[in-house]
Amino acid sequence: MNVLSNLAVRDVETLVHPYTNLATFRDSGPLVIERARGVYVYDTEGKDYIEGMAGLWCTALGYGNEELVEAATAQMRKLSFAHLFTGRSHDPAIELAEKLKEIAPVPVSKVFFCGSGSEANDTQVKLVWYMNNSLGRPKKKKIVSRQRAYHGVTVAAASLTGLPSNHADFDLPIAGIVHTECPHYYRNGAEGESEDEFATRLATQLEELILHEDPETVAAFIAEPVMGAGGVVVPPATYFPKIMKVCEKYDLLMIADEVITGFGRLGRMFGSEVVGYRPHTISIAKALSSAYLPIAGVMVPPQMYDVLVAESQKIGVFGHGFTYSGHPVAAAVALKTLDIFARDRIVDKAVALMPQFRSGLNRLGEHPLVGEARGLGLMGGIELVADKRTKRAFDAKAGVAMHCVAAAQAEGLIVRALAGDTVSLCPPLIISAQELDLLFGRLSRALDRTLEWARNEKLMAA
Ligand SMILES: Cc1ncc(COP(=O)(O)O)c(C=O)c1O
Repeated sequence: MNVLSNLAVRDVETLVHPYTNLATFRDSGPLVIERARGVYVYDTEGKDYIEGMAGLWCTALGYGNEELVEAATAQMRKLSFAHLFTGRSHDPAIELAEKLKEIAPVPVSKVFFCGSGSEANDTQVKLVWYMNNSLGRPKKKKIVSRQRAYHGVTVAAASLTGLPSNHADFDLPIAGIVHTECPHYYRNGAEGESEDEFATRLATQLEELILHEDPETVAAFIAEPVMGAGGVVVPPATYFPKIMKVCEKYDLLMIADEVITGFGRLGRMFGSEVVGYRPHTISIAKALSSAYLPIAGVMVPPQMYDVLVAESQKIGVFGHGFTYSGHPVAAAVALKTLDIFARDRIVDKAVALMPQFRSGLNRLGEHPLVGEARGLGLMGGIELVADKRTKRAFDAKAGVAMHCVAAAQAEGLIVRALAGDTVSLCPPLIISAQELDLLFGRLSRALDRTLEWARNEKLMAA
């Protein structure tokens, strides 16, 4: 084992870390973060890092926001807990639901609150099943998701997720969840095919899948406007319009997973608006509270709400809900977050930075190690390849993106390695132009270091 600090040793002996190679971690140990302010986090040695991933795509307003701290403490003092079960209620949940209905990009009847993105997507699955039982079509239950999608890790949400490591040896996916092709033109586009032709092909494949499964059994389609953990995949411009036509033809409920893209990330309050997706229902989380406290939700459309009422009449209760559904402190923080978004024109300011972000990505795209630098809004991914011309990928076991993440860390930047050797970027929306320049400078140096290492290791030609 390397020489680990006292805290690091205690960590290794006590924690099971999510999304970590638990074997190699025993040697490498953790990066222990102690405090944070603005877009910077600081480790226990006092070293600063730009949080280039907004935590886990969530800390939109950055760190140390006193108004959010104040909103939480004031609500804790007034009413630290109250629940929404059995008709009980409290004003932060009511006000937050009103606000969300007001800003929703599609008709929303009610909001169901929960604690995480996974819970929101699990709820979506249950609501689809519940709805179709109520509507007298008990066979119409399958849900179409996409390869490389990320929808969370609870049993149903992990089944929706289309990443092998979320399924392997967990006995997932469960029955009734099917995956269609990922709209990644760089990797999945055929030779000579235009982006539009690629989108047409994917829509045709979706239709074939539905016909193969039997349309009477297919209930819903779920998609992130831009895929996050699957590698920051921006779909072709015509993808969603074409996909939606197929969903409409076979009466599929369309679910948008806006857990990452909600609240300004792509340049509008909801990412669906940017990519031409018009879903029936939306999962929200993360930036809703800027991650000061966990809160998530499902925006329930009128046709679904009517069913919940009818089923309650029949069964006697809507038998779903979490202890922390609409937790008053989290709801108060979310409300304040949305106030700040409106008052400080957070989305407009982020939009003003998007050309700089795009040109930073474009510059990285010229690096010998980068096959594709892609992104939308303030969300980006750079895919590292062994051969730029042929798009040849590295052997996954070489861990090239992981190496780049470690090099970035040494430079004072936190980014994340995703499957397919993609390094992702998702800075807090409140980042300044100057901080964005620093971020790209640090990442560019990390890429240089990684290139040198990859050549020394003979992972690519010199
Ligand atoms: C698009 C998307 N959906 C769902 C989730 C799951 O959210 P959670 O980790 O809060 O359960 C995530 C998490 O990153 C996500 O990116």
